[in-house]
Amino acid sequence: MPDYALLISPAARGAYFGETQSVALAEIAGVGGVEIGAFEMHGGMDFLRIACADDLTREVMRLSFVQGLFLVDQQGWHPVEGAKGFGLHEDFVSGEKYRGKTNETLTQLLVNLALQEVETGHTDLRLLDPMCGRGTSLFWAMRYGMSATGVEQDLSALNEIRRGLKKWTKLHRQKHKLAEGWVQKANKKGTGKFLDFKSEGQTARVVIGDTVDARALVGRAPFDLLVTDIPYGVQHMGGPDGARSPLAVIQKAAQGWADCLAPGGVMAIAYNCNIPKRADMIAAFEGLNLEVVERNVAHRMSESILRDVLVLRKAA
Ligand SMILES: C[S@@+](CC[C@H](N)C(=O)[O-])C[C@H]1O[C@@H](n2cnc3c(N)ncnc32)[C@H](O)[C@@H]1O
Repeated sequence: MPDYALLISPAARGAYFGETQSVALAEIAGVGGVEIGAFEMHGGMDFLRIACADDLTREVMRLSFVQGLFLVDQQGWHPVEGAKGFGLHEDFVSGEKYRGKTNETLTQLLVNLALQEVETGHTDLRLLDPMCGRGTSLFWAMRYGMSATGVEQDLSALNEIRRGLKKWTKLHRQKHKLAEGWVQKANKKGTGKFLDFKSEGQTARVVIGDTVDARALVGRAPFDLLVTDIPYGVQHMGGPDGARSPLAVIQKAAQGWADCLAPGGVMAIAYNCNIPKRADMIAAFEGLNLEVVERNVAHRMSESILRDVLVLRKAA
């Protein structure tokens, strides 16, 4: 098998901090058929040496921590020119900056973990983010060629998303259609109001509502991937004891989230495992026909946030 050197993106360090190497190893472990070598530093840049068949290079280049790939032979290092093959411009996921945004590299990791484990057998995959904020995961899904739906409780998200889309579609001359409507009777709270962004054959829809009602808000067609970054317990979540944990919402939403998945579908949920603990997250999804897929990508973001990802697959 040919030898390669993967250039580790500086953005990965900004997402995974001191655990960048262990997260990278856990992510690449999901690509079958790759021989993992050593981490090396050259010219101040970080690399991971691997060996893999040529037909895996595109999947490897799409890993969240990878900036570029070099073929290594006796003559030296040769940059691999093949494109990552993403749709839409990267600005659609990384251009907007706002409070509460999920890091775009972490979001790509969630998508990759789910894609690596999905067993629905569908060729056209659909992604659901039941706590989608301003849509980072939905636009990543479109870049991967998937349609996506998000649920968000904050009504102001629709205007902000529309504003961002107008900016990036104009700047990058991206052909598209925007449409608005209601999935239920119009109401003052905005529950059921949606915004559709259609481009390159895919649609990203954001629907306003409580994630506990996700099943009713997103339609009956099943999803292959459920990717989400839940609140980190740094804001009041309305728990029974005034707790700052999002666990109460997850417990109420779990059944609906599971019902939205096709058999063989996969959830990748990012959360702060200081609050709630991993065992409590797993317990919230117990009895819903989901198995835990062990993928250890935990990394410390700050003193109070140890970010982990729970990966669950629905029995096929
Ligand atoms: C960590 S943020 C996700 C950010 C998003 N990934 C992005 O990059 O824009 C969590 C989101 O969950 C939303 N949320 C919290 N509780 C919710 C609920 N019960 N129903 C729907 N959305 C909820 C919050 O408003 C927030 O936008």
